[in-house]
Amino acid sequence: MAQSHASIAGLTIVDHPLVQHRLTRLRDRTTPPERFRAELRAVSQLLGTAAMADLSLASVRIETPVAPMEAPVLSSPGPVVVPILRAGLAMAEGLLDLLPEASVAHVGLYRDPGTLEAVEYYFNPPADLGRRPVLLADPMLATGHSAIAALDRLKAAGARDLRFLCLLAARPGVEAVRQAHPDVAIWTAALDPELNAHGYIVPGLGDAGDRAFGTLHT
Ligand code: URA
Repeated sequence: MAQSHASIAGLTIVDHPLVQHRLTRLRDRTTPPERFRAELRAVSQLLGTAAMADLSLASVRIETPVAPMEAPVLSSPGPVVVPILRAGLAMAEGLLDLLPEASVAHVGLYRDPGTLEAVEYYFNPPADLGRRPVLLADPMLATGHSAIAALDRLKAAGARDLRFLCLLAARPGVEAVRQAHPDVAIWTAALDPELNAHGYIVPGLGDAGDRAFGTLHT
């Protein structure tokens, strides 16, 4: 899969043509919510494929219709998908397409509109989080506050192997996450240059949750 390692350590931009094509549809303000969710789900499959390229494998004995063989399977226990509510839900769907057997640990965070800080209202991880690869999903890495808060909570609950997947990243957010959590690698479809005064990514795509769930207020 086409990837470029941007100038920021730990950041991988998945610049596969299918990702970039779908990202343009997601950015386009005329794309309706049902199309937005479908595109985000599809891009998440491609981001997830890149982010899980180094998952460890075990060997099992099976029989094909022709002969017995030793064949690879993902090591157990398998990955946990962690969507940050609510925009992360559409990404989780794409990751679960790849890994239907994954557990899902929801993190509920909202952005305080004044401070832009993340406020937690829900967190429900599995008990064996520390033994499993953890895929944190949130479409927009803007200030990094939500991702940092979620990563803090996941580590406090025992998570060790953490990967962060986002559709779009802005440089300040990437730098903040990498500074707070240098062990967590990030996969994204694009790195946009800046944030506006409201903390939105520019050019970005607007509010990913509102775009996905049809709750635009303007
Ligand atoms: N969250 C969004 O949904 N969009 C942005 O541009 C920034 C944060």
